[in-house]
Amino acid sequence: MPLTPNPKSQILNPASAPAYFEQFNDLYRQIDLTRLPAHVAIIMDGNGRWARGKGWTRIFGHEHGRDSVREAVKTSGELGVKALSLFAFSTENWSRPKEEVEFLMRLFDRTLREETQEMAASNVRLRTSGDLSRFPAWLQETIRHSVETLSGNTGLILNLAVNYGGKQDILQAVNRLQEGYRIQDTGYRVTEEEFEKHLQTSGLPAVDLLIRTSAEQRISNFFLWQAAYAEFVFMDVYWPDFRRQHLLKAILEYQGRDRRFGNVIS
Ligand code: FPP
Repeated sequence: MPLTPNPKSQILNPASAPAYFEQFNDLYRQIDLTRLPAHVAIIMDGNGRWARGKGWTRIFGHEHGRDSVREAVKTSGELGVKALSLFAFSTENWSRPKEEVEFLMRLFDRTLREETQEMAASNVRLRTSGDLSRFPAWLQETIRHSVETLSGNTGLILNLAVNYGGKQDILQAVNRLQEGYRIQDTGYRVTEEEFEKHLQTSGLPAVDLLIRTSAEQRISNFFLWQAAYAEFVFMDVYWPDFRRQHLLKAILEYQGRDRRFGNVIS
């Protein structure tokens, strides 16, 4: 099926950027736009190793990883993926060296300040999963401002998982339910739908495709509930080298899988 570019896209318009578009044409042509994953989640791994391999300090890996974030956002938006979740900072990442944690906070801040206008032009919405309260006030404010600026958009939902942990998310949902009046009713049973309303991804579709870069094959406390039926694609590329073609290839791999959801092959 030929690609029908997202009409709102400012970035990948074959008419305005034919040479750039042409490089990826073969991959795009193979993608069935009627069977896109609604929600793609990415564990962006390998920044440190990428930088170390070049004889640089780890933070350069994070800095370059930002370009890969842009590529993933643009490509997802243009294709018409509904939601893209990026695991940018886990609840365990606080144990990294103080300088690295501080660098990441500044990088998130700088990225949002510099990219929000382009995301606005590309019809991207922004939300977060994770406990923001541990972040410095200035970063919380930048995030709040970007979320608000992009709130009127209708395209891709970019969900940044920051200070996010899958176990913590589930526990928090349990505790919120417990605080609610209904759970105290004798015999009341919580449904999946009600439980999901209390998760930090409330309102997002279930994860269809979960990508992890750097060839590691684990979930690392990311979307434990949300990825229950996700297709996993592990890619042998460090995150700073992740480009448009990697996402397209992962989507093609997803489209080649037989998703049975516990059922039998028809
Ligand atoms: C994992 O690589 C990467 C992170 C924990 C940070 C992710 C941050 C970015 C990609 C920066 C830009 C992001 C946004 C949203 C602006 P690692 O450091 O664990 O790499 P290693 O496994 O090789 O040590």
